[in-house]
Amino acid sequence: MSKPLNIGMIGYGFMARAHSNAYSKVNHFFDLDYRPVLKAICARNETQAKAFADRWGYESVETDWRTLIARPDIDAIDICTPNNLHKEIAIAAAKAGKMILCEKPLARNAAEGEEMCQAIEQAGVANTVWYNYRRIPAVSLAKQLIEEGRLGRVFHYRANFLQDWTISSDLPQGGQGLWRLDADAAGSGVTGDLLAHCIDTALWLNGPIAAVTATTETFVKERLHNLTGKVEPVGIDDACAVLARFTNGSLAIFESTRYARGHKALYTFEINGEKASIAWNLHDLHRLQYFDHGDASHIRGWHNIHVSDSDHPYVGNWWVPGLQLGYEHSFVHQVADFLKAVANGKTAGPTFREAQETQKVCDAILASAKSSQWVEIK
Ligand SMILES: NC(=O)c1ccc[n+]([C@@H]2O[C@H](COP(=O)([O-])OP(=O)(O)OC[C@H]3O[C@@H](n4cnc5c(N)ncnc54)[C@H](O)[C@@H]3O)[C@@H](O)[C@H]2O)c1
Repeated sequence: MSKPLNIGMIGYGFMARAHSNAYSKVNHFFDLDYRPVLKAICARNETQAKAFADRWGYESVETDWRTLIARPDIDAIDICTPNNLHKEIAIAAAKAGKMILCEKPLARNAAEGEEMCQAIEQAGVANTVWYNYRRIPAVSLAKQLIEEGRLGRVFHYRANFLQDWTISSDLPQGGQGLWRLDADAAGSGVTGDLLAHCIDTALWLNGPIAAVTATTETFVKERLHNLTGKVEPVGIDDACAVLARFTNGSLAIFESTRYARGHKALYTFEINGEKASIAWNLHDLHRLQYFDHGDASHIRGWHNIHVSDSDHPYVGNWWVPGLQLGYEHSFVHQVADFLKAVANGKTAGPTFREAQETQKVCDAILASAKSSQWVEIK
């Protein structure tokens, strides 16, 4: 019989839905010592919070996250709020001895992230940051292929995260749904929101980044602010383009933008090694492209691996071979790994400390865009 692990969810937006779905499903597909219990949902708007609780099966509702954290019946706090609240909530939750599952980016900047890391390390609580793309089976398979030494020395890493939803200058900034355009709430624009995913995956697959040089642009300079009712300068980066050097000697190009007309959420990466290359994209997320120079020359070419076999990462826990998994499953996998780690007295990556590495790279990118200089990652 699995033991209950009581979840206190903060927020009822996009990620609160993705995580609640994962908590609800995980024990149906994974054998685990722990079972998440949807104990309480917290949001400032009680009516909305109650509606969310009814839909997803949360037992109770809070309207102040401090009250939620103070509750002795809550084991883990899940932070699904805009970025400006991550630090305060995480530090309070750590002080109360709660486990913490925090949405990405860890914080608005590395200074905030460092305070959060120190708080959780002092408290010794289990923690994880929802860089969920690591646990899409095709991406996990890429990690496996690299660890098996199939790529050999890596020369190039190339990644993009492209969207097109902020092109209209009529779109306001700030408030519910549009906090991502408000630098105070988000910290940065596409660098923290989109590129952070590319950086997390890159650090995981290809090791530390030594230095970056970047340029950013804010294409729409002023937008109506929903909270003040006034037209105000836009403080976020709308697009960024980055050159980077990894400590393993490989070179990288990263790009993220919300101005790539026609692209809704196109995350792609390609890695070129001495012996092989791999490529993946989010629009075809259950496939991994793999080119092996060791194949006999008359059949050498890109393999299009349908990552749906029972010996592919995570896949054996689901359906029969050949049936593909999707976006939502990455969250289920992260919960499964988190609960397994908790049962073994460990913690599932990316931890706050690992996510802080991404934060440092994002800070360096924004600093380089300001100074037009290469910036080393300390
Ligand atoms: N892992 C991913 O791929 C991914 C995808 C989207 C968002 N995110 C991250 O998840 C976090 C939330 O993003 P989202 O898309 O769910 O945003 P959202 O706007 O859909 O939801 C944010 C929620 O926070 C709530 N909130 C705001 N202030 C609050 C307060 N003081 N107390 C309680 N609740 C409060 C809002 O009411 C809302 O329900 C962000 O950090 C974002 O970067 C991660």
